[in-house]
Amino acid sequence: MDGNFRPTRGCPHVRDPYAFPAAFCSSGRHRRGIDGDRAERTRRRRRAADPEGVADGRIDDLRWLDAARDASVQLPRRLLSALRAFRHDAGPDGVLLLRNLPVVADDPLLPTPAVKGSVERVPTVAASVITTAMLNLGEVIAFRNEKTGALVQNVVPVPGSEASQSNAGSVLLELHIENAFHDNRPDFVGLLCVREDPTGDAKLCTSSIRRALPLLSEKARTVLGEPRFLTEPPPSFGALDSVTPAHAVLNGDPEDPNVLVDFSATHPLDDEARQAMAELRSAFMETMSALSLRVGDLAVVDNRLAVHGRTSFTPSYDGADRWLHRVYAHLDHRRSRVDRAGDGAVLG
Ligand SMILES: [Fe+2]
Repeated sequence: MDGNFRPTRGCPHVRDPYAFPAAFCSSGRHRRGIDGDRAERTRRRRRAADPEGVADGRIDDLRWLDAARDASVQLPRRLLSALRAFRHDAGPDGVLLLRNLPVVADDPLLPTPAVKGSVERVPTVAASVITTAMLNLGEVIAFRNEKTGALVQNVVPVPGSEASQSNAGSVLLELHIENAFHDNRPDFVGLLCVREDPTGDAKLCTSSIRRALPLLSEKARTVLGEPRFLTEPPPSFGALDSVTPAHAVLNGDPEDPNVLVDFSATHPLDDEARQAMAELRSAFMETMSALSLRVGDLAVVDNRLAVHGRTSFTPSYDGADRWLHRVYAHLDHRRSRVDRAGDGAVLG
């Protein structure tokens, strides 16, 4: 692996970017285009940040998640339609890009956090927007060993973690399926940009197996479909002493498989497997797209079809660095029940 991403396209092959209706937006950028009375705007802002007025709790309070689930059906119809269609079929690229979502209310955005394990505990407009959007794709979940099980996590660069292959790093982040080692990994990963990378260097990179498959040799397809690979937990899970049982990288219908690989954590068990994995990475690189996320962009990745990563960038740690919120969703809540103590949202 040569370690460098060389996107062949300037932007992802996403479904039509969705313009969030101005009437629902509360950020200053969008408020300029809003007609109507101030009270209505205030009401909408409050509803977005605090569905049903339960903010006395916290995001990780299940009462807030219940209220967010109720509020999720009140999103604008076009947004609901885009999410539902993506859930049905994530298309050839396995990525949905929604644009112009509101991320702040009246208050100025806080400085970008620069601490390890940063999460959102208190409801904000941005946290509410990403949570209600993801609740239209499935049930929102988190992992106790990752960022203390917070449902809305911050993806920010952290001093001292530059070389980490995790959300805290700033070196090139290898293409990966999110939490590939875990039986109940998310089906969808949402990344909402609340502050752009001021350098413009940090780009979300995605590739789908639907694009890459035709580039693979028959031999590689066969080998990737056999249990000849092991995957470790990512660094964001701390020191877990576990790896997957041997698994295949391609699963399901050979003509339209799911993919399970993390190019920094999946290990081939023999030379043929190593060669097939290198071929797969080349195919992903050839079909990869890169996107500089803008404020208000929500990129949703289908974690069964598409791998994602990030180009390298140089943080300044001055409060103005790139800042994303990350939320996971999965489709089958019953399947993960054994891992969710008390029927909560956090997998142990
Ligand atoms: Fe990731």
